[in-house]
Amino acid sequence: MAYVAVMGHGTVGSGVVEVLRKNKDSIEKKAGESIILKKILDRRSFPDLPYSDLFTTDAEEILNDDEIQVIVEVMGGVEPAYTYVKRALSSGKHVVTSNKELVAEHGAELLRLARDRDVNFFFEASVGGGIPIIRPLNQCLAANEISEIIGILNGTTNYILTQMRLHGKTFEQALKDAQEKGYAESDPSNDIDGYDAARKIAILASIAFNRAVSYRDVYTEGISTITRLDMIYADEMDYAIKLIAMCKDMGDKLMARVSPLMIPKSSPLATVDDAFNAILVRGDVIGDVMFYGMGAGKLPTASAVVADVIDAVKHLKTRKKEVWADSEGYPVMDINDVK
Ligand code: HSE
Repeated sequence: MAYVAVMGHGTVGSGVVEVLRKNKDSIEKKAGESIILKKILDRRSFPDLPYSDLFTTDAEEILNDDEIQVIVEVMGGVEPAYTYVKRALSSGKHVVTSNKELVAEHGAELLRLARDRDVNFFFEASVGGGIPIIRPLNQCLAANEISEIIGILNGTTNYILTQMRLHGKTFEQALKDAQEKGYAESDPSNDIDGYDAARKIAILASIAFNRAVSYRDVYTEGISTITRLDMIYADEMDYAIKLIAMCKDMGDKLMARVSPLMIPKSSPLATVDDAFNAILVRGDVIGDVMFYGMGAGKLPTASAVVADVIDAVKHLKTRKKEVWADSEGYPVMDINDVK
């Protein structure tokens, strides 16, 4: 029997609880244990929910509960998530998070802490929403030297660009729709200005190249200057404008950047629309491999979080080693060298 707590009952957290309840039987079979959701942390109360008795506003009730073995942190933002996750790992709890701000800022440190305490710190949902990409990079593609990752990593901006291009919506209307659909960050400038994608490509680069790459070193441009007219001209020349995140091994340096780019329509990335994400990974053994799916939203993100919960429950007594944990931070990047 495994006791789990969820910290945060917003878009992702409510999705996680929904999936844990909806697919309880098959999830428990895959985890090899029954999973008891014991507490949910949120400032708000939800008296009409069938599990309203699980809510608490006091994080201590979760952090000090020795019975709880797995904590799902889906609050977003660096604090207080960082403090809670550090305390949870320090006290021997496994942690699953979807929080890319937390992982991009403190991922290497938290992985080292998890290693030292012999527990797992999983963050599959922090990049690409429901798309499996962290494990594939860490495990399935481990035989490869990765030379490049190119992707559409932000669902909100891809949704906005698609709605402006195909449906003639204004930027403001498309952003409002993205917020209503639960794609956007609580501060949507993180999406619009490219910082969300910068954090995600920094996380992927850290894993692919086994280095602690800071998102602060990622050259970042957003989509706020893109007009519908730009898109129409691009379309006439057989291009689509996409917010592209990429990182590339340049020998003794890494290049990482986020910016709107004109993508030829013949490229599979040009056909990725709405809140879908796509990530192309180039490896020396496999060649090109592409991951595609819903990059934002309640249930797609919950899909990745709950998969991590299953993995954590399956490995309650054994830590899965993550290579990134063992590397000291040495971001090596000079965007001026990029042609
Ligand atoms: N705001 C993010 C996006 C959510 O639009 O991609 C998923 O990380």
